[in-house]
Amino acid sequence: MHPHFKPGPLPLSMQLTPEGKLKHFLSTEGLPHLLLHDIMDRAEQFVTLPAKQQKKAPFLRGKTVMNLFFENSTRTRVTFEIAAQRLGADVTNLDIRTSSATKGETLLDTVRNLEAMNADMFVVRHEHAGTAQFIARYCAPHISVLNAGDGRHAHPTQAMLDMFTIRQKKGDFAPLKVAIVGDILHSRVARSQIHALTSLGTGEVRVIAPKTLVPAGLDKMGVNIFNNLDEGLKDLDVVIALRQQRERMDSALLPSEQEFFKLYGLTDKRLEATKPDAIVMHPGPINRGVEIDSRVADGSRSVIMEQVTNGIAVRMAVMSMIMGSMAGGAA
Ligand code: CP
Repeated sequence: MHPHFKPGPLPLSMQLTPEGKLKHFLSTEGLPHLLLHDIMDRAEQFVTLPAKQQKKAPFLRGKTVMNLFFENSTRTRVTFEIAAQRLGADVTNLDIRTSSATKGETLLDTVRNLEAMNADMFVVRHEHAGTAQFIARYCAPHISVLNAGDGRHAHPTQAMLDMFTIRQKKGDFAPLKVAIVGDILHSRVARSQIHALTSLGTGEVRVIAPKTLVPAGLDKMGVNIFNNLDEGLKDLDVVIALRQQRERMDSALLPSEQEFFKLYGLTDKRLEATKPDAIVMHPGPINRGVEIDSRVADGSRSVIMEQVTNGIAVRMAVMSMIMGSMAGGAA
């Protein structure tokens, strides 16, 4: 990253046009609930169309989408690629491991070169928080940037596909009790989900985690914090399990995966505390036997694979809305 860049608060004006339409999609923080519902409404249109008919909605025809994944991904990268293709875009996946980034080229120089190849949209995943924001600030004005996950900071399209899945299964957010369980400290997904859930007026948002995995200041985000799993699971409508982010974790934070599973692992027995029709979600990748038992991950309450499928429609929705805003037309 640029040595002088310090990711700071993200002003809404950085993501939205003066008319309040999406220009970039960097974070769910501060986004109005009407815009979040617009994204879900648009995704609903795509999800009900068979893939062949989706290709007849070429919102991105003639546009070039570049996937820049500086960190590994399965779900996000592939669903962004499928979404862009269904919208008629030309899609390029830059293989960072064989790119000139490995020869010392700076991020901005890489961006400048991709701009010169007529990029219209960058989809960016990076281990450093603020990278997508940085690119959005310095790239050419006609280019839009979508954050596909930056460090511990944000993963806005993941949060939106999760909101979409909750809305599909449960309808209105107001009566719902939703909990996010596990490694909140290192999770960009949790932060983006909390911003979206609170903006959408969710009845109660809980986090359930050991004290060592609760970030400072979380209590100011409008959530109730539980350190005991059984207490936190009581009467829930939606349980969202998170992966232990071992790649970002100081090993001193947790004694062992076995102990974590004993205290915080989701099992059928422990889920008896939730409402009988509660759903279980997970953004993936899942660690079986660490944060979730296989019987739960593959069981009747699990909507994990539906989340993955919904990722295509939600990413189509966000990309098509951005392209509408950039063209000055209806988003
Ligand atoms: N949920 C998610 O971001 O998964 P990937 O890392 O596989 O993209």
